[in-house]
Amino acid sequence: MAIPKPEGRIVEFEKMGFGMFVHWGLYSQLGVGEWTLHSHNRDINEYKKLKDTFTAEDFDAEKLVLTAKNAGCKYIVLTTRHHEGFSLYDTCGLSSFDAPHSPCGRDLVREYVDACRKYDIVPFFYHTTLDWYQPSFNEDFDSYLEYLRRSVEILCTNYGKIGGFWFDGNWSKPDADWKEDELYGTIRRYQPDAIIVNNTGLDFRGALGAHEIDSVTFEQGRPTPMNREGMDKYIAAEMCYTLNNHWGIGSLDFDYKPPKELIEALCDCRRVGANYLLNIGPTAQGGVDVYQDELMKIMGRWMSIYGEAVYLGKPCGVMTQGKHFALRGDDALYLFFYDLGIGGDSHVTVGIGDDGTCEFEGVKDTLSGVEWMDNGESLEFSQNGDKLCVKVTRFPYGMSTCVRVAKAKIK
Ligand code: GLC
Repeated sequence: MAIPKPEGRIVEFEKMGFGMFVHWGLYSQLGVGEWTLHSHNRDINEYKKLKDTFTAEDFDAEKLVLTAKNAGCKYIVLTTRHHEGFSLYDTCGLSSFDAPHSPCGRDLVREYVDACRKYDIVPFFYHTTLDWYQPSFNEDFDSYLEYLRRSVEILCTNYGKIGGFWFDGNWSKPDADWKEDELYGTIRRYQPDAIIVNNTGLDFRGALGAHEIDSVTFEQGRPTPMNREGMDKYIAAEMCYTLNNHWGIGSLDFDYKPPKELIEALCDCRRVGANYLLNIGPTAQGGVDVYQDELMKIMGRWMSIYGEAVYLGKPCGVMTQGKHFALRGDDALYLFFYDLGIGGDSHVTVGIGDDGTCEFEGVKDTLSGVEWMDNGESLEFSQNGDKLCVKVTRFPYGMSTCVRVAKAKIK
């Protein structure tokens, strides 16, 4: 069965490969995650008061954008409104539960979008569909949906061209009629090239949604290959991932993932052609947490060496053993190797194959050379039919970049 051709916006989305998610809202002042209103049964009238202490004095949109840029991200998804119902943008009279009505008195989404433009990062808007603040969410769902639609309309019309919308919350009322056609229709009217995502939630990772939706999500999970045969539209895939166990900052969550896991997750996404959306949770008033910043910097160092393979490489049907894999770029194959030890001696045995060689099958191109992208060292290789055999060396002493990528030039 045929695989549909991706529309232009989806091609662009897939090419970006790596984005930064940002969870920031009133909840950040409490430092116990973005679900605290619900999970800790807080009284909404007390919770609301967090608006009165929201100064956003540490929010520097350019700094935030540069955190993403220096990490190698091409786009950012910012929580313009999360489940707590507070908007970081000017809701233009729809509600006073927004940043301009707080002591901060600024339209933070405007600052975010401007900074993205300055540094050539594509701005995406996360927007909740579930709302713990608006009584109409439970009492008059139709009027709530109109409030939601108008909120989204503001985001569509006041900030220039944006990359897309990332919705989240329909899973809270699985049987309700969310009038998705009206919501997505509004977006298509003003932002025809916007990517539309609607998170299916942890229980339904990778599930397809309404027809207008452009990408499936794999929240916190390793993405699986998409089977697009027979689909009437090409759908992209994206996996979002936390640095520790919370999206919004958790001051007592020390359970940060090691860089190796973060890097491998990025590669695992690209292996199946999915984007990787790595989350940071800014501090109470919008600063970038030092430790999270450092993890993003490590991602950036990895990307500065191997980024070409992440952006250009696409799944191409080449098979190999274990976790290793190959992607095809315009004029090269990119070979990703996991768990190489540190050597010192080139041509030393690695833990893949008996003799330090790794065999790939399904290689249709003739190669002119294979070399590590990090130090340019050439690797011995041979080709026989569609088989490629590469003699894989360990990391030289002084380096251990977790996943190591070799570039095989196509003749
Ligand atoms: C979940 C959570 C939410 C988070 C989202 C990110 O759906 O409800 O807090 O924003 O995942 O993927």
